[in-house]
Amino acid sequence: MKVFCFGSLNIDYTYKVDHFVQKGETISSESLQVFSGGKGLNQSIALAKAGADTWHAGSIGEDGRFLLAQMEEAGVHTQCITVLEETRTGNAIIQNDTEGDNCIILYGGANQAITREQVDEVMRQCQKGDFLVLQNEINELAYIMEQAHKNGLRIVLNPSPMNEKIRRLPLEYVDYFLLNEVEAGQILGREVKEGFDKEELGKALRECFPKAMIVLTLGKEGSMYLDEKESFLQPSYRVRAVDTTAAGDTFTGYFIGGLLRGLAVREAMDLAARASAIAVTRLGASPSIPCLKEVEAYSF
Ligand code: RIB
Repeated sequence: MKVFCFGSLNIDYTYKVDHFVQKGETISSESLQVFSGGKGLNQSIALAKAGADTWHAGSIGEDGRFLLAQMEEAGVHTQCITVLEETRTGNAIIQNDTEGDNCIILYGGANQAITREQVDEVMRQCQKGDFLVLQNEINELAYIMEQAHKNGLRIVLNPSPMNEKIRRLPLEYVDYFLLNEVEAGQILGREVKEGFDKEELGKALRECFPKAMIVLTLGKEGSMYLDEKESFLQPSYRVRAVDTTAAGDTFTGYFIGGLLRGLAVREAMDLAARASAIAVTRLGASPSIPCLKEVEAYSF
């Protein structure tokens, strides 16, 4: 079984800063590093490193060809990636502060130039039962989901970065949601305040999407898994954070990759928690994603 990840590919410009720049302020950065990133690319790399037969679909410009080489090196098939002649590759300006937190400005570029013809071509490569992993950094998501549903694919949605477009998608087609509490609140159309009741939030998600498997990520508290048979909390592994960029993507890729390798849900959740904790200890998006051997050998 294959997993297709139809999503963004970005060039990440990561600036190490003392604090995030404020309105009207100009600050100097300690360093600038350029990494391969984009939620789609990161998740594809995590899927492949977790052992899944991973095919990435999406678009880049000529300036992003180096991303292809990095994906291939990680074991991702890149034949479904279109290289556009006159559009720039998407990019992200990332500030990374001393706590390891980040804030990001995105430029969509080629990620926002997906065509329906391209989607149809990708669908021709898929087979019933294959997985399709989506995030919210490309256009034509609704069309992709409709076609995927028609073709019997299992849809995984990480509705990140969240915006109003997500609620207009055919969310009833989603088999797996991986989302944080803020995204959950926005999907449910309610405010989630600090100190919220996670059991109650999980229950509300289940009621809204009764057929879906749900992974609610809770930052340092870990994550919660819910489906019609069970629900449990997966604690996070404690590490010293250097850069949280791509931690969520690592979790998503390792969780789905683990399931595809035949792990039980609890095992896949634990594997994903380990992999994302390791990713947090390193700078950068996709270069911070550990390989399976490292995840299995790492002692926390
Ligand atoms: O999730 C991290 C990613 O978000 C970064 O790699 C950046 O490109 C943005 O898409």
